[in-house]
Amino acid sequence: MKKFFGLSLIGLIMIGCGGKAEKAWTVSSPDKQIEVNFFTLAGQPAYAVSYKGQNQIDTSFLGFVFQDQPALKENLKVTSGVTSSFNESWEMPWGEQRQVENRYNELKLSLEETSAPHRKFDVVFRAFNDGVGFRYEFPKQPAMERETIILEERSEFNLTGDHQVWWIPGDWDIYEYLYNTTRFSEINAYSVFIPGDHLGQVYLHSNAVNTPVTMKSEAGVYLSFHEADLTNYPGMTLKVDTTSLSMVSELVGNKSGIKAKVTAPFITPWRTVQIADRAGDLIESKMILNLNDPNQVGDVSWFTPMKYVGIWWDMHLGRKTWDYASGNHGATTEYTKELMDFAAENGIGGVLVEGWNTGWETWTDPNMRDTIFDFTTPYPDYDLEELARYGKEKGVQIIMHHETSGAVARYEERMEPAYQLMNRLGIHSVKTGYVGTIIPDGEYHHGQWMVNHYQKTVETGAKYQVAINMHEPIKATGKRRTFPNEIAREGLRGQEYNAWAGEGASPPEHLPIVAFTRMLAGPIDYTPGIFNLTLKPYKEDHPIKSTLAQQLSLYVVIYSPIQMAADLIEYYQGNPAFQFIRDVAVDWEQSKVLDGEIGDFVVTARQAKGTDDWFVGGFTDENPKPYTLKLDFLEAGKAYTARVYRDAEDTDYVTNPTAIDIVELEVKKGDEIPVNMVAAGGFAVSLLAK
Ligand code: NOJ
Ligand code: CA
Repeated sequence: MKKFFGLSLIGLIMIGCGGKAEKAWTVSSPDKQIEVNFFTLAGQPAYAVSYKGQNQIDTSFLGFVFQDQPALKENLKVTSGVTSSFNESWEMPWGEQRQVENRYNELKLSLEETSAPHRKFDVVFRAFNDGVGFRYEFPKQPAMERETIILEERSEFNLTGDHQVWWIPGDWDIYEYLYNTTRFSEINAYSVFIPGDHLGQVYLHSNAVNTPVTMKSEAGVYLSFHEADLTNYPGMTLKVDTTSLSMVSELVGNKSGIKAKVTAPFITPWRTVQIADRAGDLIESKMILNLNDPNQVGDVSWFTPMKYVGIWWDMHLGRKTWDYASGNHGATTEYTKELMDFAAENGIGGVLVEGWNTGWETWTDPNMRDTIFDFTTPYPDYDLEELARYGKEKGVQIIMHHETSGAVARYEERMEPAYQLMNRLGIHSVKTGYVGTIIPDGEYHHGQWMVNHYQKTVETGAKYQVAINMHEPIKATGKRRTFPNEIAREGLRGQEYNAWAGEGASPPEHLPIVAFTRMLAGPIDYTPGIFNLTLKPYKEDHPIKSTLAQQLSLYVVIYSPIQMAADLIEYYQGNPAFQFIRDVAVDWEQSKVLDGEIGDFVVTARQAKGTDDWFVGGFTDENPKPYTLKLDFLEAGKAYTARVYRDAEDTDYVTNPTAIDIVELEVKKGDEIPVNMVAAGGFAVSLLAK
């Protein structure tokens, strides 16, 4: 720890504002490109951020509004400012890369009110080469002895221009929206909000956006706003002021108007701004993870990244049902064994089975859904014990499914026996789900109560060696570093929407936006690999807006340690394109985003962990993208067999989506492979070292 005086890392400078000059403290990123200034203006704490000498966040104030206490945002003085530097490299148990560099300079400011009640708190800034994080730390103190009720946190982000923004509404209950691309001044969350949608699971409080929200300035600087280490606190939306071009934190509350209940000492999540002048750098950034604590679970080798198939798309296509009473039940012992056999033959590690447990007949019935699921009683045609045994014999694991239908308090009661059952059967992962409004009434999916619930599932999972893949989740904030059994989540408009007639297929630009927004938060259970893109004979009139080659590319570009081969297995059998799904890795030594532009296209290369093999994926939006893949990333002097899966000349996502050109080539570093992408197209390449 170093004091701030007299150090080059942190200068004591003077800020002029309305004739009033006050002290400022500065901290820079290790490469000196990013600089944070902190100061008080007439007793109000504020900060600003610059990148390469250009302001990116203008003077933005910080503060809190509490219940039964005065607001905490003025009459403040800095009592100390301490800097430190940090540099470590840590290893991911699974992830986009093996080693992560965590290098930053920190500035910790202690603030105190100049008048009664003399409350104190610290603001901590960390400047990384790829962005900035800050958070508040409240020590134990006389004026905050009892529980503190936070009515609002006021962290401002004052922009320097009318940036291009890729945003979804700041809904308190769901993130499953298409992204909107507008100028900041044109953001109107209400214009895309449909009251009563999604079984009533929607709520918009103001003109706000959810994070990660990504922007591009006129000067070509990319900014993405999010949070890290969301623990015992509500999720943060960003309320938008389209006139002053600023955002302010708006925490997700509950129906009583309270945002958070905390007791000092407490710390808030990090508020984060990723900054880059190459769009792909946003994806490569590991800042969100670095702002989380190291692994607390210890050895998680009981979870291994894997591909999986499932009894799932059947239901979304309407071919089978979750419920038993329909007479067309999907989750039978026989069908599960068929999938286990297929998985075992194709190097696929897991079989997800939805609709295995009693209760699905009334799962969305508002009067029933609070009590129906117990998560331990299988339907009569599903022999769980036998399937666990059969899976073991085949080297394939069941992936458990717990749909809570929003009855969360009930799930908490029943969670422990359910996880014990999994543990006894050697089932090491569960897909959870929270469809519908939350019971207890008054809570929203993204509020503090639910943040704590999701955390409880992860901690209970760790206790019973169960990894969690949550649907209808709280957004990822890098907590997988601390709890590596938090493996993946939904939290976006996933592939399932492409099967739903009412919603219609997502437009081709959806994934090229997702890669630079939602994906910055963490792994996505998107469920790629639909080969029957017309969905016929199950759906007649809404084909998926993708080519077959694009479906393959998703295994590389959209990162997750679990990747579903989501289609019915009959569409894989005998299809040469399936070879890519068999070959592609799910755990990585290193990852490089070779190219890309938000909303247009992305090309990513990843080296499979512990091998010299590489996999490359690329996809485009509604515009064709002529593209030549340059193999500059390969190791010099090594020979590789490349299997290339690319759109054919006659591929057309509307009339001929499954046309694919598959070629095998011998290649080396520096070679080039033409992989022209048609509209909504893509390519995938496996590069197997010889
Ligand atoms: C919504 C999930 O996203 C989907 O994957 C699942 O099949 C249904 N809920 C039922 O749990
Ligand atoms: Ca969902």
